[in-house]
Amino acid sequence: MELMEAVKFSRLLVPLLFTVLIADSVNGIGVNWGTQATHPLPASTVVKMLKDNGIQKVKLFDADATILDALKKSGIQVMVGIPNDMLYTLANSVEAAEKWVSKNVSTHVSSGGVDIRYVAVGNEPFLSTYNGTFQATTLPALQNIQSALIKSGLSSQVKVTVPLNADVYQSSSDKPSDGNFRSDIHDLMLQIVKFLSDNGAPFTVNIYPFISLYNDPSFPVDYAFFNGYQTPINDNGRQYENVFDANYDTLVWALQKNGFGNLPIIVGEIGWPTDGDKNANNQYAQRFNQGFMSRYIAGRGTPMRPGPMDAYLFSLIDEDNKSIQPGNFERHWGLFYYDGTPKYQLNLGTRSNGLVGASGVHYLAKKWCILNPSANLNNDQVAPSVDYACQNADCTSLGYGTSCGNLDARGNISYAFNSYFQVNDQIDSACKFPGLSVVTDRDPSTGDCKFKIMIQTDSARLRKPVGLLLFAFLFFTILYNLRF
Ligand SMILES: *[C@@H]1O[C@H](CO)[C@@H](O)[C@H](O)[C@H]1NC(C)=O
Ligand SMILES: *[C@@H]1O[C@H](CO)[C@@H](O)[C@H](O)[C@H]1NC(C)=O
Ligand SMILES: *[C@@H]1O[C@H](CO)[C@@H](O)[C@H](O)[C@H]1NC(C)=O
Ligand SMILES: *[C@@H]1O[C@H](CO)[C@@H](O)[C@H](O)[C@H]1NC(C)=O
Repeated sequence: MELMEAVKFSRLLVPLLFTVLIADSVNGIGVNWGTQATHPLPASTVVKMLKDNGIQKVKLFDADATILDALKKSGIQVMVGIPNDMLYTLANSVEAAEKWVSKNVSTHVSSGGVDIRYVAVGNEPFLSTYNGTFQATTLPALQNIQSALIKSGLSSQVKVTVPLNADVYQSSSDKPSDGNFRSDIHDLMLQIVKFLSDNGAPFTVNIYPFISLYNDPSFPVDYAFFNGYQTPINDNGRQYENVFDANYDTLVWALQKNGFGNLPIIVGEIGWPTDGDKNANNQYAQRFNQGFMSRYIAGRGTPMRPGPMDAYLFSLIDEDNKSIQPGNFERHWGLFYYDGTPKYQLNLGTRSNGLVGASGVHYLAKKWCILNPSANLNNDQVAPSVDYACQNADCTSLGYGTSCGNLDARGNISYAFNSYFQVNDQIDSACKFPGLSVVTDRDPSTGDCKFKIMIQTDSARLRKPVGLLLFAFLFFTILYNLRF
């Protein structure tokens, strides 16, 4: 009898243990939590969203104390980032690095359990567009932070890394096996890789098939995704059906050729935007992210590294205050819209039915600022007003192939006015484009084109001088026009 019980128990236990082991070896998915939004959701709301969606890891771009506090005792693992503009200081002062670790890691770890696992030193510091600005400071900053972690006694639980753009390596052909580090930073990369390896730290890389498509109009669309590509690239018997695998394995080859073939790799950012470009929409984003997640959940890697991966999706929530220097799509990488509404269904392998949105979100009133229907489009205030609104709010959903790309000229102007009005918390003075604008309670949204209503934030009440700025701008524009 007892034996039978034991057998029954082990029958239960073995699969259970097995599941636990699998769940651990197939890493849960991580997400990037960026905060460059005019109206960010409260940190506690976002943490609840993470938990509701079974997301176990987040990557932060700086050590925001409010966010770290909200992550206390959440059970969520954290990669905390150091912005590039701090690298110079941290590279040149051991003391600054020790203070950074003390304030931004040790305190949070000890004062009640924020589960910090990584410090990301810099963010894509060797991006070609930075012209080498951070080349001299990244490695010394990395070394100083590592020393500070050792001194603080945290170095076995908190590892350093440097999230790098995939442009730090390249292949001389379309084959991963021809890969190596970019020639202008080859030696620097080897020093960094050696340092990471010596300290049991991972290589972190951001891989963006969307950008391949965006930069090259002749790029085969299906090759950007995980399904549908008909003519795989054959690399000495290894078949590449998607650019992600090829890109990742180019890194594996670069590491291997230089003697670091076993260095762990984290994919620091991977994702697809949903607006601001003709290839940025919910359908493509769903196809890409689900294609990636299905492999991830199954523990499938690349031809060179077939096992489970470690990755952070980019990103959690749209950020309407990001620089659009990379392109208009830059504000639309979220799995969720600005208000925490899911954009499309996505199985993260953590729960059975799709993404869970944010709860308890408070919106501003149901009103919009639009172009007065009786306004004349030839009014010479139209152009400067639209420019001003777009510069100070967000017009990235306008233009060819975007969600509001089908608006007519009047629709465009209304969209710009409303964006400015909402970003400024619907204060009356933010809908005073001279003789042009009017507030309405009829939703101007059509089809996919949504005229937002902003969410309430604590800071909303503090930003009143905005109407004054608009007034001053238009006042001087009028003066200028009168004068000439
Ligand atoms: C938006 O970004 C600009 C420039 O980076 C910054 O000066 C401004 O404070 C940001 N606004 C909000 C509301 O975060
Ligand atoms: C901690 O991190 C924040 C956010 O990145 C930064 O502003 C601050 O200077 C850091 N503290 C120290 C002591 O370096
Ligand atoms: C990099 O150099 C280019 C061309 O010399 C210049 O236009 C650009 O502003 C520079 N960027 C930075 C971040 O310094
Ligand atoms: C609407 O605005 C977008 C972006 O500014 C522009 O590309 C488009 O031509 C405009 N459409 C009309 C009908 O004015």
